Amino acid sequence: AELKLWGGRFTGGTDPLMELYNASLPYDKKMYVADLEGTRVYTSALHKVGLLNDHELSEIHRGLKLVEAEWAEGKFVEKPGDEDIHTANERRLGELIGRDISGKVHTGRSRNDQVATDMRLYVREELAKIRAILVGLIKVFVSRAEKEMDILMPGYTHLQRAQPIRWSHWLSSHATYLANDLERLDQVIKRVNRSPLGAGALAGHPYGVDREYIADNLGFESVIGNSLTAVADRDFVVETLFWGSLVLNHLSKFSEDLIIYSTAEFGFIKLADAYSTGSSLMPQKKNPDSLELLRGKSGRVFGQLAGFMMSLKATPSTYNKDLQEDKEPLFDCLTTVSHSLSIATGVISTLSVDAAKMRAALTMDMLATDLADYLVRKGVPFRETHHISGEAVATSEKLGLSGIDQLTLEQYKQIDARFDADVVNVFNFETSVERRTATGGTAKSAVLAQLKNIASSLN
Ligand code: ARG
Repeated sequence: AELKLWGGRFTGGTDPLMELYNASLPYDKKMYVADLEGTRVYTSALHKVGLLNDHELSEIHRGLKLVEAEWAEGKFVEKPGDEDIHTANERRLGELIGRDISGKVHTGRSRNDQVATDMRLYVREELAKIRAILVGLIKVFVSRAEKEMDILMPGYTHLQRAQPIRWSHWLSSHATYLANDLERLDQVIKRVNRSPLGAGALAGHPYGVDREYIADNLGFESVIGNSLTAVADRDFVVETLFWGSLVLNHLSKFSEDLIIYSTAEFGFIKLADAYSTGSSLMPQKKNPDSLELLRGKSGRVFGQLAGFMMSLKATPSTYNKDLQEDKEPLFDCLTTVSHSLSIATGVISTLSVDAAKMRAALTMDMLATDLADYLVRKGVPFRETHHISGEAVATSEKLGLSGIDQLTLEQYKQIDARFDADVVNVFNFETSVERRTATGGTAKSAVLAQLKNIASSLN
C-alpha cells in the first residue's frame, strides 16, 4: 500500500470503497490556490519562530510555486493516496523539493486548521466575485427604472389588479431587496474573513506561532480567538448558504412576476431570444426557461442549506469528518448563485416592455381608492368614503358601465351629495400615481429618490 500521511499506526489496508468514500480531492482540489497560499504564509510563520531556516523556507516557497503551476496548467498528477487537496499538495511538494524539507511544513499544523483556512480563503474570493455580479444586477434594475420612468402598469395584491404604479417602482422594489442582499453579503464576508490557522488540531500551537502575523499575511481581518472553535466553526458556510438561499428567493419572486407578465394573456414584457428557448414539438412556442430556472434554483440552494444544517447538528466539539460535508453544497451554492445572478442580469437588461399593453391593463376601478380619497379631502372620514366609493363601483357594475368614470355627476350626487363636478379629476392614472409622493411611493419624485438611495449604497 502507498504511504499514507497518517499511516504510522496502521497495519491493515483501507477498504477501496472506504478510500473513495473518504476522499474529498475530486471536489476540494478547486481550493488548490488557497491551500498553497496558506502553506506559504504558515511556513513563513514557522521560519519566524526558528522552526525553518532560510534555505528550507526558500526551497518550500519555490516548491509551492511549482506545485501551483502544475495545477494551473492541468499537469498535476493525482496519485492513489491523495486523500484531499492538503495531502496531494504536500505529497507533490515532497517529490519536488525532497521530503527532508517538505516534511517540516506541517509542524504544529493540522489538516483541521488547514482546511478551515482554505475554505475561508476560497469563500472570500468567490463571494467577492459574486458581489461584483450582484452590484451589476442592481445597476441594471436602477438604470432601466430611470429610463422607463413614464411607463404605468397595474400593481397587484393577491395577483388581483389593485392600484396603478410605475413600472420603475416595480423595478425599484426588486432592486431594494437586492441592495439589502448586498449589505447582508458584506456582513457575511466580515465573518468569513477570520483566521483559524495556527489553532493546530484543536488545542492550540505548541511553538508560539504568531497567529496575528499569519492572519495579516493571508488578508484576514482577525484571528479566531478559540482554537477549538477555529477548527470546527462552519457558521460561515451556513451563512453563505443562507445568504445564497435568500438571494435566490428574491430572484425567484421577480422571475415569477415576469413569467406571468410574459404570457400572451398579460403581454407586458417579452424576453430576449437569448434567454428563451423553443419547444421541440410546438413551433410557435417561446418559453421563459431562464426565469423558470431562476425560480427553480431557489429550491436547490435552500435544500443545500437545510442539508448542511442537518449534517452540522449535534456534531461533537472540534473537528469531525462530518464537516467534510460542507464542501459540495457550498461549492454548488456558489456556482448556482453566481450563474443565477449573471443570468438575471442578462434577462433584465434585455427584456422589452410593452408600455401600451401595461397601460391597457389599467382599469378605472383601480382608482376606487382615489375616489374614496377625493371625499377624504373634503373632510369625510375614510371608513365612510371607502363605503361610498364601493357603492359607486357597485352602481357602475349594475348599470353595465365600463367603469366608475362613466357615472354622471347626477348619479354621483345620488350616491353622496358631497360629490362635485371636480370628481372627474379623480379618473386619471397619472394623477393617482403622482399623489403618492411620500417616501417609498410610486410618484416620480419618490421613485427617483429610491433609485438615488440604492445607487448610493453601491460601492
Ligand atoms: N478533507 C478534510 C475535510 O475536508 C480535511 C480535514 C481532515 N482532517 C482530519 N482530521 N481528518 O474536512
